[in-house]
Amino acid sequence: MNSYTVHPAKCVKGEITVPGDKSISHRSIMLGSIANGVTTVTGFLRGEDNMSTLNAFKAMGVQIEDDGVTLRIHGKGLHGLTEADDVIDCGNSGTSIRLLCGLLAGQSFFSVLTGDKYLRKRPMKRVVTPLAAMGAKIAGRAGGEKAPLGITGGALSGISYESPVASAQVKSAILLAGLYARGETVVREPHLSRDHSERMLRHFGADIEASGTEVRVRGGRELQAREIVVPGDISSAAFFLVAGLIVPGAELLIKGVGVNPTRTGIIDILMLMGGDITLLNNREIGGEPVADLLVRSSNLHGIEISGDLVPRAIDEFPVISVAAAMASGKTVVSDARELRVKETDRIKAMADNLRLAGVIVDEADDGMTVYGTDKFKVFHADSCGDHRIAMSMLIAGLVADGSCTVDDVECIATSFPNFFSLLEQVSRG
Ligand code: S3P
Repeated sequence: MNSYTVHPAKCVKGEITVPGDKSISHRSIMLGSIANGVTTVTGFLRGEDNMSTLNAFKAMGVQIEDDGVTLRIHGKGLHGLTEADDVIDCGNSGTSIRLLCGLLAGQSFFSVLTGDKYLRKRPMKRVVTPLAAMGAKIAGRAGGEKAPLGITGGALSGISYESPVASAQVKSAILLAGLYARGETVVREPHLSRDHSERMLRHFGADIEASGTEVRVRGGRELQAREIVVPGDISSAAFFLVAGLIVPGAELLIKGVGVNPTRTGIIDILMLMGGDITLLNNREIGGEPVADLLVRSSNLHGIEISGDLVPRAIDEFPVISVAAAMASGKTVVSDARELRVKETDRIKAMADNLRLAGVIVDEADDGMTVYGTDKFKVFHADSCGDHRIAMSMLIAGLVADGSCTVDDVECIATSFPNFFSLLEQVSRG
């Protein structure tokens, strides 16, 4: 288990780019593999989660070349994947296992999906139930709730599904199965979750229509290989946005960040808290909006966060709680029960860690109330094996009373392999 000691920052300054978007990187491999022709991907995130997806498709017979800059995925067409001769290990990646469930349900072969000790605890019925309604045969521990999952692929029929959760993983699993299903598949969700699957499926020529919180896909149409340019991950930029706001005198430019409106809840939330963030050089790359983000040190104040804003910032609540702890007044997060079933229970993990830093936090079933303070006490935090908890507490360490240690930080490699070098670079100024 590796620990990292972070020192209070004298300043946070400079210009950085963050690695490619994790969600888009997963989808580029999946769609590239089942398209006809060679898909090229630049900006691919070579984090552990995405490598799990890449290795899964290699194991199913897809040739993927990587020259260090560009991936070349030799697509096998909708029905060209072949049975993996071993269990497919999705590591820590919820997106890999849940989206693969949908895609593999429509194949003419058998697959077994598993993951690390954290992934094997996470709920899978949310995808197994709708896929079973389409005709999929999926078995797993705890009646299909937990991995390992065994999937006997076969004929599927389209369904109309009202998802009880706003989850892009659930929506995407059903849409991927829908590519193989007879007829039309419709998914509705309570709030719009990230729409990268819809955008990329359209880009690859799928028969898909999205309107508000409803998506329809018709099965049977072959996909065509495309060029994909992956923008910087706003979920990785989020750590440096918060650093740029809470460290006195900070000014940071984060270039080439994806600003898809289903992901920019973090910018809206931090601006509502009084954060000085400017979007520059707005452009569109490969069907995804991109901008440079200029952030300057600000006096933040507490706000209430609920409803539609929650899925638009779902991965950012650990670092939002750090910003909230450095704001005046209190911040109340509700409607965020999903945080309890992420890589770890993120409400409990952040409440426990922030309390170690001297912050008053009240936990609720579906969120938390964070009371602002001036400075964090020196703390020794535990990541709970969750990359975003680890990075959030390291950002908190930049404004602590002295040097702070975070245990179990190797998990950061799942999503942000160069986090430490960027942290050191910006704190050098
Ligand atoms: C993701 C969807 C979200 C998010 C995860 C990535 C995706 O999960 O938390 O990090 O790429 O589809 P849920 O679908 O569980 O909300």
